[in-house]
Amino acid sequence: MFITLEGIEGSGKSTAMAGIDAWLKTAGFTVTRTREPGGSRLGAPLRTILLDTMNTDILPETELFLYLADRAQHVGHVIRPALAAGDVVLSDRYADSTIVYQGYGRGLDPHLLHQLNDVAVAGLWPDLTFLLDLPPETGLRRALSRNRQEGRHIAEGRFEAECPDFHQRIREGYLTWAALHQDRFRIVNALAAPDTVLADIRAHLEAWRVGRKKT
Ligand code: TYD
Repeated sequence: MFITLEGIEGSGKSTAMAGIDAWLKTAGFTVTRTREPGGSRLGAPLRTILLDTMNTDILPETELFLYLADRAQHVGHVIRPALAAGDVVLSDRYADSTIVYQGYGRGLDPHLLHQLNDVAVAGLWPDLTFLLDLPPETGLRRALSRNRQEGRHIAEGRFEAECPDFHQRIREGYLTWAALHQDRFRIVNALAAPDTVLADIRAHLEAWRVGRKKT
């Protein structure tokens, strides 16, 4: 079982990750929790390159292939072995992030990116993907106040520093992409209070578990 979590900056992915992890463990599953970019040993320096605010000259195509390289390594060295061992894999971001950020955000063709991702992951797509959805203004406000509390620079990360239009395209891109893949996407209203968000996610997980027992 492979579960991924997607959403814009400040959508509350960390809290949701912790909630899903806890639910899975209580339900008796062994969980491998991971993230992108940088989920493998080789991916750590790729993450540094990808998120470094100094790399303003990085081309969309360069960025794309670095994300795909990071993902190929992550799938081969971390995700597939964990699935083969019977774990539930829970990843903070995966291929949908590339389709949305590099596709809907940067202007590369989302359907071509779907195919390129398919090559990078050798056909491994998630069974369940939670999309934490909220307006980008709210997400950015939350992300900036978190950065301030953690003593980080206001616009830490190359994406947090992008213009409002970019973030709007990301939100809409996620919703468009999710509508095309309703079989695995579950859209969660991330504007709600944290307890409500977690209750919504738990309800989806329960429904998934019931469906799984029937098959
Ligand atoms: P990160 O610091 O992990 O932030 P977040 O909490 O938002 O996940 O930064 C990851 C950034 O990388 C995020 O802004 C989205 C971007 N990204 C892509 O553009 N394409 C991708 O394929 C992935 C995995 C991430």
